[in-house]
Amino acid sequence: MELFDVYPLYDITPVKGKGAFVYDKEGNKYLDLYGGHAVISIGHSHPAYVNSISKQVSELGFYSNSVKNPLQNKLADKLEKLSGIEDYSLFLCNSGAEANENALKVASFHTGKDRVIYFKNAFHGRTSGVVSVTDNEKIKAPFNQNHRATKIAFEDSEALENELKKGDVAAVIFEVIQGVGGLDEASSEFYQKTAELCEKYNSVLIADEVQSGYGRTGDFFAFQKHEIRPDIISVAKGMGNGFPIGGVLIDKAIEAKRGMLGTTFGGNHLACAAGIAVLEVIEKENLLKNAAELFEYVKQKASDIPQIKKIKGRGLMIGLEFDFEIAQLRKELLYKHQIFTGASANKKLLRILPPLNIKKEHFDELFKALKIVLN
Ligand SMILES: Cc1ncc(COP(=O)(O)O)c(C=O)c1O
Repeated sequence: MELFDVYPLYDITPVKGKGAFVYDKEGNKYLDLYGGHAVISIGHSHPAYVNSISKQVSELGFYSNSVKNPLQNKLADKLEKLSGIEDYSLFLCNSGAEANENALKVASFHTGKDRVIYFKNAFHGRTSGVVSVTDNEKIKAPFNQNHRATKIAFEDSEALENELKKGDVAAVIFEVIQGVGGLDEASSEFYQKTAELCEKYNSVLIADEVQSGYGRTGDFFAFQKHEIRPDIISVAKGMGNGFPIGGVLIDKAIEAKRGMLGTTFGGNHLACAAGIAVLEVIEKENLLKNAAELFEYVKQKASDIPQIKKIKGRGLMIGLEFDFEIAQLRKELLYKHQIFTGASANKKLLRILPPLNIKKEHFDELFKALKIVLN
């Protein structure tokens, strides 16, 4: 049977990963500065992670959510402790789209409303509700068009209030730093005003931290810099370092009712073992600090390259904006210098999303390669 053709593929077949590197079937070594779309948070095949998953699968890989699973409580406690946020409860699922889909559902149940506000250039996933609040008409099927969703621009508090005033808005969903959209981030004033307006008009504020979360920006959650308290926070990607796991953190003021949410695989034993190992490594290796420090290093290195016009993002969620479209540059980095990088909706932006325990010397390799390609 042929595979359903959904992505253009690089002619590379990785078969092994170690730390910040992957190896293809011919034994070539690649520096992974993209982490398979921000998924690899603690490095490929981290020994603590491998041990934790291996041990768990040899004991119990899965049982359903109809029995007690203390690993879920352990994960929730560790997440609360490391993130420093309090009075949320956790629903575990399997992916970023699913986390956002459940977040929208909770918001709609809670408010009894059905419209959602989203932002220009947003990406929240590909399933039915969340693709309708994603700013890309090409990936919406007619079936997805039936949701009531309204797009506005970052920093436009007036438009936001005009929509919220109508009284039918269940939620405002936003990425604190946009990933796929090209690393834009609104001001603290705008996020604070958005939170205030959501409260005033009884709408739920959902921070999509699927890409920016779990330490990537140097804060545990990217919204923490803006001193807001979202009602719901969605997480996935780096949460499992490659094991599919997602989560929805829900303010305790939003009451859980039986039947609101459910899942077969979400929060299974193996996923929890992966998630706990990730948090333990983030804590033990002080990875938030590493992310923040390396951003300063990257800024300094990038200032040596005149073709880089702007550095966007924070921590290890980085966008290098060039004065030309970067498709060819990315290909040369990959095929001539064996370095994985990413793209975004902004065709001039090179997206860097490496494992959080990457080191300066890895960035030195990138900048050395950039100098060769650009000269
Ligand atoms: C901010 C954001 N939200 C949601 C998603 C969807 O996550 P998933 O692909 O795990 O469904 C993505 C994926 O790129 C994302 O970047």
